Amino acid sequence: MHFFATAAKGTEPALRDELRELAFRGVRADRGGVHFEGAWDEGYRACLWSRIALRVFTPVGSFDARNERAFYDAVRDIDLSLALGESQTLIVGASSRNSRISHTQYLSQLTKDAIVDRIRDRSGRRPSVDRRDPDVHVFVHLANDFATLYLDLAGEPLSRRGYRDPNAEAPLRETLAAAVVRYSGWDRKSPLCDPLCGSGTLLIEAALAAWNVAPGLARQRFGFERWAGFDAAGKARMAELRGNARALRRREAPAIFGSDASPEALEAARASAKRARVELELSLCALRDFELPDTLPPGTLVTNPPYGHRIQRSSTLPRELSELIDAHPDWRAALLLAEDDRSTRTHRRPDQVRQVFNGDIDCVVRVYAEKTLAGAERAGQQEGRKG
Ligand SMILES: C[S@@+](CC[C@H](N)C(=O)[O-])C[C@H]1O[C@@H](n2cnc3c(N)ncnc32)[C@H](O)[C@@H]1O
Repeated sequence: MHFFATAAKGTEPALRDELRELAFRGVRADRGGVHFEGAWDEGYRACLWSRIALRVFTPVGSFDARNERAFYDAVRDIDLSLALGESQTLIVGASSRNSRISHTQYLSQLTKDAIVDRIRDRSGRRPSVDRRDPDVHVFVHLANDFATLYLDLAGEPLSRRGYRDPNAEAPLRETLAAAVVRYSGWDRKSPLCDPLCGSGTLLIEAALAAWNVAPGLARQRFGFERWAGFDAAGKARMAELRGNARALRRREAPAIFGSDASPEALEAARASAKRARVELELSLCALRDFELPDTLPPGTLVTNPPYGHRIQRSSTLPRELSELIDAHPDWRAALLLAEDDRSTRTHRRPDQVRQVFNGDIDCVVRVYAEKTLAGAERAGQQEGRKG
């Protein structure tokens, strides 16, 4: 089987590395996602374990689509009975690039018609569309008049882990937060901190990774578990994968802590951490008063300061953040910043700059590798900070 796990623009290399670490086969990054191969249950495993993938597609047919008639006929020839029967509901998503059928809403309508007409001809009943909570998610991608039809194993996007307060202000998408944590190069063993933690998404994603919690475990069921052909063998395999995932949860994790100046944001972070069943140390603190504790070994600072686009920020915040990073060369650091942010200027040079998108905002992840300090240098640095 061939699978394509989709990812937010700019996070494909993070997803590729994650899938390799999870021992998937045939892993190859592409525009918009990562290809991998394996038996059906590898698709199940990706839904359960990927922190960065948004959806997991498997192709069910590819064909030339020179015109509408050819497109309709080709879709109608595809057997989707493994997922879709007359009593299931469905939704069809579409994308089109450089093709004669360019209107995606029309494309999804045409695809839906071809699919349901085939089933109606065979059974006399047609499955209906459900935009809110469909059983089967179909996706059609058209590029240069060549179409590929996919089934989406995930169903609801994998970013919806279920721990988040829906009213939290300007939170990061969980999958993007997981990609930023991966780009930071954190080893998942040393401390991790976010001094502008907001509703805590970076911290929670870091904690889930450190505890080796499969992010999909919190989910009641994935899209494929509602398919017509999801049989007893599939259910048994999924129960086994969930059981293995529970057993792989680690018993210990490093200190993962954060602070924020907003009591409301911290309240949201506490509630989300509780729902995600991870332990975080959270405190109310303005960035200018924030200090990394001397009692901890050096670790990684990962943060996403307010961009100023949606949340106002004080004019001193970029300087305070730069000073914090410069004062701790033995800490690794990763900043998710708006691409046009020229105000956060550190003396340390970033070792890596990755382009990502936070929704529609062009962003970068700047990663600063840690410098290993000799004992005396470290003691001197601590004295200097106290002075
Ligand atoms: C973009 S949000 C972080 C979002 C967070 N990554 C999440 O997923 O929820 C930036 C946060 O910085 C906080 N903040 C802004 N200025 C601050 C300051 N001077 N000191 C501490 N926190 C501050 C805001 O309260 C806000 O929660």
